[in-house]
Amino acid sequence: MAMMLILLGAPGVGKGTQAQKLMAHFGVPQISTGDILRAEVRRKTPLGQQALTYMNKGELVPDNVILDMVAQRLKASNAKNGVIFDGFPRTIAQAQGLDGILKQSGKKLDAVLSIEVPVQRIEERLSSRRSCATCGAVFNVLLNPDEIDNHECPKGQPLIVQREDDRPETIERRLKVYTEQTEPLKDYYRQTGLLKEVPGEGTVSEVFSRLLQAL
Ligand code: AP5
Repeated sequence: MAMMLILLGAPGVGKGTQAQKLMAHFGVPQISTGDILRAEVRRKTPLGQQALTYMNKGELVPDNVILDMVAQRLKASNAKNGVIFDGFPRTIAQAQGLDGILKQSGKKLDAVLSIEVPVQRIEERLSSRRSCATCGAVFNVLLNPDEIDNHECPKGQPLIVQREDDRPETIERRLKVYTEQTEPLKDYYRQTGLLKEVPGEGTVSEVFSRLLQAL
């Protein structure tokens, strides 16, 4: 089904987790600017090296870098029926840039889903997150410890790590940056009638059902 969605929400509310499920449900790809940047960092490209200095401090990578990256990714053939944006846009300038890109290609957003989770729960989720550095799979030591132990990496040797920016001081900075620079996007999309706020507490399946209901 064609579907053009934005997943909005503070760091750790479960955007990536829900994007995986929405992707399977609607059959459209996820565009996670965070995942694209981490892949550039792993490959040690100039873009990755530039981005890393911002990411490790919990700051946003400059808008022009992000918009170029997204415009490029949207040209891929598997993006023609829609995409699920995860962690993008993150500033008003990025939202305006996306409006321009979509207008040029005659596409329109279907909805902006903002996942809402109290700060205390977010801190808990982020400090207990682990991922496989080889394939990118995301886990949680509180939610699914067995999956970490039993992970069979589809891309090679499993390597379970904690993200550099999931350390307490960086989490604090990321949350502040979210409040200052990203949360204003809720008003931006509320004005267009596209915003739907969805509670993000409860199990992964419960949150997924709420997202589908909101749509
Ligand atoms: P990015 O990778 O986008 O990070 P983020 O927005 O901070 O979001 P996270 O990936 O931390 O969390 P999430 O909401 O996806 O939660 P998840 O599903 O993993 O960005 C990283 C950095 O890159 C930025 O700081 C910035 O520097 C840069 N960047 C990226 N995009 C940019 C942009 N557009 N502009 C500028 N800079 C950009 O879940 C978290 C944990 O909770 C997991 O362990 C998961 O298993 C668990 N969990 C999920 N759902 C539940 C549930 N229902 N109950 C219990 N636990 C749950």
